[in-house]
Amino acid sequence: MPTHQSLGGASDEDLLQRMVVTHPERFDAPFWAFFDAQVGGRLPPRPVIMDLGCGPGLLLRDLGERRPDATLLGYDVTPAMIAYGRHLTFKPASVTLAVHDVAATPLPLADATVSLASMSSVLHVFDEPLPTLAEIRRVLAPGGMFLLNDWIRQPLATYLAWRRDVMNESGPDALRRAFRLFPVHNKYTVEDWRWLLGEARFEILAQAELRASHRIFVATPTR
Ligand SMILES: C[S@@+](CC[C@H](N)C(=O)[O-])C[C@H]1O[C@@H](n2cnc3c(N)ncnc32)[C@H](O)[C@@H]1O
Repeated sequence: MPTHQSLGGASDEDLLQRMVVTHPERFDAPFWAFFDAQVGGRLPPRPVIMDLGCGPGLLLRDLGERRPDATLLGYDVTPAMIAYGRHLTFKPASVTLAVHDVAATPLPLADATVSLASMSSVLHVFDEPLPTLAEIRRVLAPGGMFLLNDWIRQPLATYLAWRRDVMNESGPDALRRAFRLFPVHNKYTVEDWRWLLGEARFEILAQAELRASHRIFVATPTR
């Protein structure tokens, strides 16, 4: 599988810093309003919450602030991400952060044990997403939810303008990087994501476009 290094030309440390710096704007008030309205109320007592491709673990930390009774599980293929997460302070007592390549190895979890599985800006990287979606389906408990938040296709001019105006990127290196990332970030349309979820036997419960670059879905396995 191509790594984010080959795709974006960034080192693990660069990507880690980017994820940390942009975390507050990516997981902002509209995100939490959507989460509270569509996910929070559907969680059982003492939920098991997994973030797949958890990066630096900041979303998992924030989820634990909301649900101190949760068991938190974070998996990421990049050791630097997991190392960063292990230095965070979590409210819940039970937190597991582990290096794991979900594209290569099944999750170290029993069937039907997870209340909420989250993937944020991760699935678009995978060569073939369906085996990972099947693995998420396997670990979700009855009534469990899958929170998928990922890039959606934008026209080239819109994407370049977004990187310039929203990401505040400028100069020849940034432009080269933007062109390299364009096919990575603009791989799937909203319809493609909906089709993939259906193909993997998920029913969409809610969705929103909280940012022009991303679509967020709440889905649950169909029976
Ligand atoms: C763009 S970052 C997003 C990180 C985090 N979800 C966030 O939103 O801050 C993508 C993450 O996916 C991880 N990743 C990529 N392929 C993976 C795989 N096969 N298994 C587990 N993690 C993976 C990368 O290491 C990276 O941390």
